[in-house]
Amino acid sequence: MLRSLLIYLSQAPWARKIVTGWSFAWNAASRFVAGEEIDDAIKVIKYLNDKGINATLDHLGEHTHTAADARNATATILTIFEAINQSEIRSNVSIKLTQIGLALDTELCAENLTKILERAKEYNNFVRIDMEDSPWIHSTLTLYRKMHLEKGFDNIGVVIQSYLFRSEADIQQLIGECTGVRLCKGAYKEPPEIAYPKKGDVDANYDHLARLLIDGSNASGCPQVSSDGRIPPTVALATHDEKRIDYAKSYAEKVHLPQAALEFQMLFGIRSDLQEQLTEAGYPVRVYVPYGHEWYPFFTRRLAERPANLWFFISNFFRR
Ligand code: FDA
Repeated sequence: MLRSLLIYLSQAPWARKIVTGWSFAWNAASRFVAGEEIDDAIKVIKYLNDKGINATLDHLGEHTHTAADARNATATILTIFEAINQSEIRSNVSIKLTQIGLALDTELCAENLTKILERAKEYNNFVRIDMEDSPWIHSTLTLYRKMHLEKGFDNIGVVIQSYLFRSEADIQQLIGECTGVRLCKGAYKEPPEIAYPKKGDVDANYDHLARLLIDGSNASGCPQVSSDGRIPPTVALATHDEKRIDYAKSYAEKVHLPQAALEFQMLFGIRSDLQEQLTEAGYPVRVYVPYGHEWYPFFTRRLAERPANLWFFISNFFRR
């Protein structure tokens, strides 16, 4: 109930207007967002890199309303690759397709995505396409295939959500196409006709899909994380859930998948203790580091994931 309300609020323009006007809201959001400028994010990533942790940089933004905004967002993303190179950080880039025009015009989005992938290629870097809510899944996977299979970009990966019934079929197809997949549980509110309503089922499906990805990686020669930390292995498990992580570790060990072929991914500001433990144990770990002014929907989804975060938000109000 509370989760549904928060996810609704994350997409409501009127709520965004009110909350972003409160200065204490940014104080609370900054637990999960590296800062408003790219230099803030680079500082955070240098700190993570010193601990042996890689990153994926996200310039926050989604659902741009005009073609000009989508082009501006693309122009900003294009500058990130140079910034990564100059600062010599171990990071790739994550993007949302509705930020670069998916909800406006598929052709415009394809044009913007091509520019981003070409620039990433110039810098020998990698782009992960985040998965948004279900109305965008088909067009996201279609555009991904256009880039990977038709245009031949090999520096691109997608995200699959274990709460969806369709995800097993999607993963089977993606494995056949040699695609790198980030597996997460899913951060949106989806109807029971297409998604598991119960957390136990989402978790069980997560283990099942992780197993499929691990087997797929083994069958395709166990691609490993690159030495500069920018190109991830084909299996990237994005979760802070220790049971899911332990399950994947033991299955991977059982089938002899090398540790460097199994990446764990977490969000900035969540379970840094676990990030360090996994790094010390020898697994590649990547932290998702968002920055920018458009932090409202990202932050509100983090509140929805864990009601305790709401008290953290409220306590910031009293600390003003
Ligand atoms: P679960 O919700 O069961 O939480 C397990 C434990 O993790 C909790 O008990 C708590 O300790 C901790 N935890 C989880 N969320 C927390 C929070 N917000 N604050 C504090 N502690 C928290 N989703 C999506 O739909 N599309 C996408 O592209 C992505 N991309 C993505 C990238 C990366 C790197 C990560 C880690 C996650 C995503 N997600 C995502 C979000 C994902 O779908 C999911 O909503 C969150 O990861 C929370 O689920 P967990 O797997 O952590 O499990």
